[in-house]
Amino acid sequence: MALFDCTVNATSGNARALTYETAHGPFQTPMFMPVGTSATVKGITVRQLEELGAQVVLANTYHLSQRPGPEIVAEAGGVHGFSGYQGPMLTDSGGFQIFSLEDTRKLDDDGVTFRSVYDGTYVRWTPEENMRIQQLLGADIAMQLDQCPPYPATREFVQRAVDLSSAWAKRCLAAHTRPDQTLFGIVQGGMHLDLRLESVRRLLAIEQESLAGGGRRFGGFGIGGYSVGEDHETMFETLGDVARALPEERPRYLMGVGNPTTLVRAVGEGVDMFDCVLPTRTARMGTAFSSTGRMNMRNAKYARDLGPLDAACNCPTCQNHSRAYLRHLVKQGEMLGAILLSVHNLHFLIDLMARAREAVLAGEYPQFQRAWMKSPAAKDY
Ligand code: GUN
Ligand code: ZN
Repeated sequence: MALFDCTVNATSGNARALTYETAHGPFQTPMFMPVGTSATVKGITVRQLEELGAQVVLANTYHLSQRPGPEIVAEAGGVHGFSGYQGPMLTDSGGFQIFSLEDTRKLDDDGVTFRSVYDGTYVRWTPEENMRIQQLLGADIAMQLDQCPPYPATREFVQRAVDLSSAWAKRCLAAHTRPDQTLFGIVQGGMHLDLRLESVRRLLAIEQESLAGGGRRFGGFGIGGYSVGEDHETMFETLGDVARALPEERPRYLMGVGNPTTLVRAVGEGVDMFDCVLPTRTARMGTAFSSTGRMNMRNAKYARDLGPLDAACNCPTCQNHSRAYLRHLVKQGEMLGAILLSVHNLHFLIDLMARAREAVLAGEYPQFQRAWMKSPAAKDY
């Protein structure tokens, strides 16, 4: 297979199983991607990521552009050489962070100016500058600079975010030249189906125009602007139609979503890739996903519980440690507690998506989804 080729191995209902080729090897979907914001999945070594079966690992352009700076990362061999992770990697553009972290930012048609949370200095990003930075970081997949509107937002506000994100998509695609890296466009449009479909149409038109001029195409598509405060049902009113408006033979990546049941449902709507800080962030707070629903490991009921965290799980944490020990670690603020729960939570989502792929390959995804929705794991969704 050639670089960035995408093969549809099977479909079942609207669910898909893809194989995608990168310069650091192939990945297979459906798939959950651990988030390593600052070129580290917090508390998890590269070796552990490999053992967990992580396929693609994320890093964030906002954070790395500020610390240690893209030139230092580039000198170290990009995000791969710098972090030591040799599998496929993806950098998010950082647009989302500008809109969630920064209270002082100024947006204009040409770009965005923000004050860094690291040192308060003013930073100016145009789409071209963002592409320069992501090409220095050198992940296998870069994401376009976009504007993610909050929820709720007025229709006019969301329309402007679609306009701006479309204009930036065009400029990002034109500025993107690195041969061993591909660029994903990002769909916006809030909870308005017509604006979402307009966003898709404009991305595809931008791509057509680029190809006609001898330029590049998008390697896949992010679906941004969800999980910004709306409830699950509101997202699912439009998600399926948006996913299926995108080209069949390219990956669809629902950005920033990590709830197990949301993943199962979104795969059933035709989504292929996911990322979220949820498994590692909630682990640091003492929460574990499990086959019987979320568990708060601080709970006194686990004080003398010598059983495994989740009897249905075969991750290293569940193979080696009791609930009583994990509760103790979490209660004491021991760093190992956060690490062991992070390993388990990452395994839970990575394994869930591996089983979803098996179900698609067997032509049984609708049954898999129905069984999940009836299981206790789906109860506290
Ligand atoms: N992560 C979660 N949502 C988004 C989004 O809308 N845009 C970007 N760039 N990243 C995200
Ligand atoms: Zn486990």
